[in-house]
Amino acid sequence: MKRFGVMSALLSLVTGSLSIAGGPDGATIFRAKCQLCHTTRQVTPAQREKLLGPPIDEVVLKVKEKYPIREDAIRFIADYIRTPSIDKALCPSLDRYGLMPSMEKTLTEEEAKCVAKMLVEKKLSGEDRKKDLSPPRQ
Ligand code: HEC
Repeated sequence: MKRFGVMSALLSLVTGSLSIAGGPDGATIFRAKCQLCHTTRQVTPAQREKLLGPPIDEVVLKVKEKYPIREDAIRFIADYIRTPSIDKALCPSLDRYGLMPSMEKTLTEEEAKCVAKMLVEKKLSGEDRKKDLSPPRQ
């Protein structure tokens, strides 16, 4: 991981990028850029009405059903979040939420791969879930 040397670590402090020493951290990226729309909690039907996007566990399950091979699932997510489209979408909830906005401008390819890998490998811990500040709160 030569790309994440001291200079880029310093740079990321300045630019507020989500990289930490050694590269970006998937859970951190997820919390900052995905959780608002993709809750990590179990939701009741009433809470579901308030969500901006489908709960992340449901999303990941759907992706894994379609792409059982780990690398394919990671590739799909990393690609989708930067360039979502109706053709690619697997979620049956498109009608309810509309298409996910592209994160191409806010997420580098590296960060996209990193968060995708974390999701597919189920690296969201109980701690991460506790810090979930996404809308449904009652
Ligand atoms: C502004 C809200 C919003 C944000 C932020 C957001 N998403 Fe989404 N996402 C959605 C919505 C709405 C859908 C369901 C519609 C769709 O599939 O495009 C979705 C769908 C998805 C899907 C499933 C695509 C499919 O096959 O249909 C994945 C995977 C996903 N999001 C991952 C992420 C990740 C990872 C991030 C953070 C980098 C993120 N999303 C950030 C709203 C969001």
